[in-house]
Amino acid sequence: MCGIVGYAGARQALDVVVEGLSKLEYRGYDSAGVAVLADGKVAWEKRAGKLANLTAALAQSPPMAGTVGLGHTRWATHGAPTDPNAHPHTDCGEHIAVVHNGIIENFADLRAQLQAAGHVISSDTDTELVAHLLEDEVAGQSAPGAGSLAAAMRAVCQRLDGTFTLVAVDARDPDVVVGARRNSPLVVGRGHGENFLASDVAAFISFTKQATEIGQDQVAEIRADSVTVTNFDGTLAQVRDFVVDWDAEAAEKAGFKWFMTKEIAEQPRAVADALVGRTDAAGRLMLDEMRLTDDELRQVDKIIVLACGTAYHAGLIAKYAIEHWCNIPCDVQLASEFRYSEPILTRTTLVIAISQSGETLDTLMAVRHAREQHCRVLSVCNVRGSSIPRESDGVVYTHAGPEIAVASTKAFLTQLVSCYVVALYLAQVQGTMFASEIDTVLDQLRAMPGAVEEVLEVMGPVREVARELAAEPCVLFLGRHVGHPVALEGALKLKELAYMHAEGFAAGELKHGPIALIEPGLPVAVVVPPPKDMAVLHDKVVSNIQEIRARGARTIVLAERGDAKVAQFADTLIELPVVPPLMQPLVATVPLQVFACELADAKGHDVDQPRNLAKSVTVE
Ligand code: G6P
Repeated sequence: MCGIVGYAGARQALDVVVEGLSKLEYRGYDSAGVAVLADGKVAWEKRAGKLANLTAALAQSPPMAGTVGLGHTRWATHGAPTDPNAHPHTDCGEHIAVVHNGIIENFADLRAQLQAAGHVISSDTDTELVAHLLEDEVAGQSAPGAGSLAAAMRAVCQRLDGTFTLVAVDARDPDVVVGARRNSPLVVGRGHGENFLASDVAAFISFTKQATEIGQDQVAEIRADSVTVTNFDGTLAQVRDFVVDWDAEAAEKAGFKWFMTKEIAEQPRAVADALVGRTDAAGRLMLDEMRLTDDELRQVDKIIVLACGTAYHAGLIAKYAIEHWCNIPCDVQLASEFRYSEPILTRTTLVIAISQSGETLDTLMAVRHAREQHCRVLSVCNVRGSSIPRESDGVVYTHAGPEIAVASTKAFLTQLVSCYVVALYLAQVQGTMFASEIDTVLDQLRAMPGAVEEVLEVMGPVREVARELAAEPCVLFLGRHVGHPVALEGALKLKELAYMHAEGFAAGELKHGPIALIEPGLPVAVVVPPPKDMAVLHDKVVSNIQEIRARGARTIVLAERGDAKVAQFADTLIELPVVPPLMQPLVATVPLQVFACELADAKGHDVDQPRNLAKSVTVE
């Protein structure tokens, strides 16, 4: 939520920052702004609306030449998305410019103190207060100039409650950009004669792949030729360097209309990548970043999966696999509710935190709570070096590559595959499956890229029905067993992208309420269990379809290829490849992603940047 870029080097900072913001716009797109240092002054421009509004304004303004600067793309918290509330914010003397991601919780007290001291606050934001606090700190130093901004930042951060990534420049310290982080992401990019600060490596990947993680409560000072990271108390911090393992092209649309269509199309490769390197020479499963010992895993007698949004749906599906293969009770909880539900946790409870970004604050806070209660935490994340894996005992990276569209697609499929691999590993360690059984499931997983490819090849009817339904006010989704979370995910996608009322239900619950919603013409998408391996549930769902058709519903049926029993009741039939029941979500979710994407496109919506949403939600 909110994207931040800082630059110190030899290039024109404005170009680098605007390019970086274009890669971070998925994090927030209410407004955008930039600041550049030149001639002892800070020049800035900011605009409400998407980045395009800012670039149009920049094209009309005098050139902002300078090689040190910063930028921001916003998802509003304090204050409406207007020009004055857009970042950067400046101090009274207009020497300092600040951008911020997060929420400063002691905002009201600080604002009152600053106003009482004579500061003129001109926006509704919590961020502007930081500019004034820095102003006072710098003024209090014996010699404003070299090194003073970092020292001021350390002092100011200690007065802030809440979550923040802050990046600031001071025209009196013109070679420096300073960043600070608590609970929100910040990473350094290290180039030759240039350095970067950003919320996400995507902002600088076209310039450098060398990166440094910034830890909790640390301040990074970058200059063209140096990076210094200190803790809030001023001591030098231990930092971890890493190399970004994907190319700049991976974050480009590559000819697709939307990032989402590209990411949907990338799913066969992403699923294959999620499985690479998971077995040793003897064919036994190994998870090299797991960091939890087999002894620790042998003791696990309860699993709690924590996640938000789409990742939560992946967890709901993973529960079936975990309980089936490992015989360990598994509970799946919304991360935002977890801490407040007084969960029963012991040292033998394993918490699995699923998060694409690794930065979702609800999930991060749940992870912290679990660790305080002495649970072991394993995270399943996509973004290397992000906060959740940093704070977990172990991690399994999903290797989906950068996911830019706000609505999650390839990350979801790779979360499923990764959770399945974790479940199989636990089964191996705890001895609940024979090696041959694990091999069979691994072979089934290895066949999934091909199965997903098959689904993608026959999406014509899905696109057609999506366009036909673009004017409908509501769509329902039904499923059973692992098909139930698939239905929830189908409904979430449609809400996110098409702004339509969409609900997912367990098909068995239909008769307990939702059937009252059925009226003539109402579109209902139904995920049908495989007819052979889940014959009983299959037949019950076929009955449900008949019940809703009898009441006039328009049925969109997702069923296994050759399922003759159900085909006759489908107004639109979407055939799925024949796969084992636990694998069905990997193929059944794809048409629902395509459906939501196409329908939103037909309505003229911005598929990649749906209103009010952000990809990485770093506020609770
Ligand atoms: C936001 C996004 C969702 C995502 C959820 C969890 O709400 O809009 O698409 O599923 O966060 O994100 P995470 O990065 O933790 O998987």
